[in-house]
Amino acid sequence: MEQRAAPVIDRLVVIGLGLIGGSFAKGLRESGLCREVLGFDLDARSRELAVELGVVDRCADTLAEACRDADVIQLATPILALERLLGELAKLDLGSAVITDVGSAKGNVVRCARNVFGEMPSRFVPGHPIAGSELSGVTAAKSTLFRRHKVILTPLKNTDPQALALVTRLWAALGADVEHMDVAHHDEVLAATSHLPHLLAFGLVDSLAKRHENLEIFRYAAGGFRDFTRIAGSDPVMWHDIFLANREAVLHTLDDFRADLDALRAAVDEGDGHRLLGVFTRARAAREHFSKILARRAYVDVMHSNDLVFLANPGGSLTGHLRVPGDKSISHRSIMLGSLAEGTTEVEGFLEGEDALATIQAFRDMGVVIEGPQQGRVTVHGVGLHGLKPPPGPIYLGNSGTSMRLLSGLLAAQPFDTTLTGDASLSKRPMNRVAKPLREMGAVIETAAEGRPPLTIRGGQRLSGMHYDMPMASAQVKSCLLLAGLYAADQTSVTEPAPTRDHTERMLRGFGYPVTVEGRTAIVEPGHKLRGTHIEVPADISSAAFFMVAASIAPGSEIVLEHVGVNPTRTGVIDILKLMGGDITLENLREVGGEPVADIRVRGAQLKGIDIPEDLVPLAIDEFPVLFVAAACAQGRTTLRGAEELRVKESDRIQVMADGLQTLGIKAEPTPDGIVIEGGMIGSGEVWAHGDHRIAMSFSVAALRASGPIRIHDCANVATSFPNFLDLAQRAGMQVQAEGAS
Ligand code: S3P
Repeated sequence: MEQRAAPVIDRLVVIGLGLIGGSFAKGLRESGLCREVLGFDLDARSRELAVELGVVDRCADTLAEACRDADVIQLATPILALERLLGELAKLDLGSAVITDVGSAKGNVVRCARNVFGEMPSRFVPGHPIAGSELSGVTAAKSTLFRRHKVILTPLKNTDPQALALVTRLWAALGADVEHMDVAHHDEVLAATSHLPHLLAFGLVDSLAKRHENLEIFRYAAGGFRDFTRIAGSDPVMWHDIFLANREAVLHTLDDFRADLDALRAAVDEGDGHRLLGVFTRARAAREHFSKILARRAYVDVMHSNDLVFLANPGGSLTGHLRVPGDKSISHRSIMLGSLAEGTTEVEGFLEGEDALATIQAFRDMGVVIEGPQQGRVTVHGVGLHGLKPPPGPIYLGNSGTSMRLLSGLLAAQPFDTTLTGDASLSKRPMNRVAKPLREMGAVIETAAEGRPPLTIRGGQRLSGMHYDMPMASAQVKSCLLLAGLYAADQTSVTEPAPTRDHTERMLRGFGYPVTVEGRTAIVEPGHKLRGTHIEVPADISSAAFFMVAASIAPGSEIVLEHVGVNPTRTGVIDILKLMGGDITLENLREVGGEPVADIRVRGAQLKGIDIPEDLVPLAIDEFPVLFVAAACAQGRTTLRGAEELRVKESDRIQVMADGLQTLGIKAEPTPDGIVIEGGMIGSGEVWAHGDHRIAMSFSVAALRASGPIRIHDCANVATSFPNFLDLAQRAGMQVQAEGAS
């Protein structure tokens, strides 16, 4: 809330001194924005109390007296009383007063105003604060009631912009988040999110109470019943008003809900457990998302404070056994192939990071029933290659380039249209690398300028197979085309310029789908099926890499990273660190579900600068940010070439790392396709991760050898790939924490 500000209006009049009107009056009185706050209520006792409690400066005895010389008139009476009140107001000379209201059904308010005034007055700004309490009356008035609550204003075409700005200003002064919305849209949204739940709660309690007149069953009601029916304790008269006022929108949403309820009834009747599970798992995921919105952790807080800052203090060494979360690439693919398989796929060790969760949500949106994740376990009820359903709207993939690129391949062959969108970082990433070859196969794909997301993929195309020589070494492009190839009319083959991760090829085989690999060419034929299977996701070597470098550069360290995937297409980081003098050994080498896995022991070592062999670049593509930190701690110069792909990752990783390292006093010279780093003393300072998870974690590691603290800005996206990074890092001996946390 604003501190006492200079007045912007002389007189605010609040008509109706209940909880909402009283709170509005009290809050604005305290804000100092109005020279005088005057109240009016038909109930004399409420008028007295309002003055006694400091809700208003004074009260008027008649409406006419109240409105004389008013600058703003707030109508806070019950919604069904509004038409009569407006009728009274129409008889008065209101001068140029701005009128606004708080009714929860706006169509009705506008209708009443038109009946009374002939047309909607241009200085009438309809509004609705989404706030309340089970308490009512002026005694419950609270100046903070609207703080961090939404207030929806529903201006019409003829609404005076100055009046709108003034009403917006007043609500904002109370700490509310003001939004503008179309009248009809407001009424539909509120009918669905507020009015329908109240109707159901009132209806359910009454129905049960009627059936069991002695109310005996309520003795056995537990928390679920209490939570579900809490709102049946709301004010009956107010709600009766609301349903009468918002009749059409309520009926509309109620009819939709009845159809869904009938479908659920049929599922119970027919013993259709699959359908029930589908509804329940989707609802649970949606509810988790809603809880974040309700707790303001989604959207609102992210907007206000997307600058999650990591504070990494210098020094320390690492010890102990650590298991980092599941492999991101394999987690994505387990959901994609599990969804396209026939039968059920059980996944263990699944990465519960935002990127992999985005892939789960995408398939849920396309009708796949997916249970979990719960402690890394996911059950995917496959629908077969041709069983996906059109999603209800655009598919939002957050920060996840892998989801977008791989999905575009399989969506190009579906009978329905899809639109793929992402966050600010993903929206800048190049998609022509998949759109172009997919178009050659017959796909119809629209992109934003320069091949950026969103992608709109037109369904119903017949894809033909093709041979594609990839211009860049990209596992995402290769995988995208192989997935499209499952649906093509004939063979699809992809040749890569250098080996890239081969999880798609391995996992397709694990699902019983034949893939031929000849040298650097992977080949699929259409006409086979995927069969549900069991997948154990190993720990992600890309996440383990932060601890490999951390233990290497912090003297006296010794750690064992357990159950890490060591697929030879991913182990470039180990090879590079060993070339730099790292002390790394693989123990217990074994194969789990078609992927090699090992425990990796890392001890502190004096590293030396090297020329990184170019053939290792694609095999360590995600690990370079942290390898640059290793280079900064090494003796001598490290040179990287042939890594221009780093410029189009979640950030331009060459530039962003060079900037940060230079800030910390390290000589780091970016080149078009790499970087030259001179080992030296790392200083302290402020660096920016630019929303790139791997940059944030890399600078956290750098602090081990820094002379003072490093503050790292924009770290929220660490949750995309390594949600428990801070926890594990602290446990291992690093002194890094989110700023503000103790
Ligand atoms: C990935 C491939 C790589 C990698 C990304 C995951 C995958 O991208 O950087 O984090 O799962 O296929 P490119 O294919 O663009 O190199």
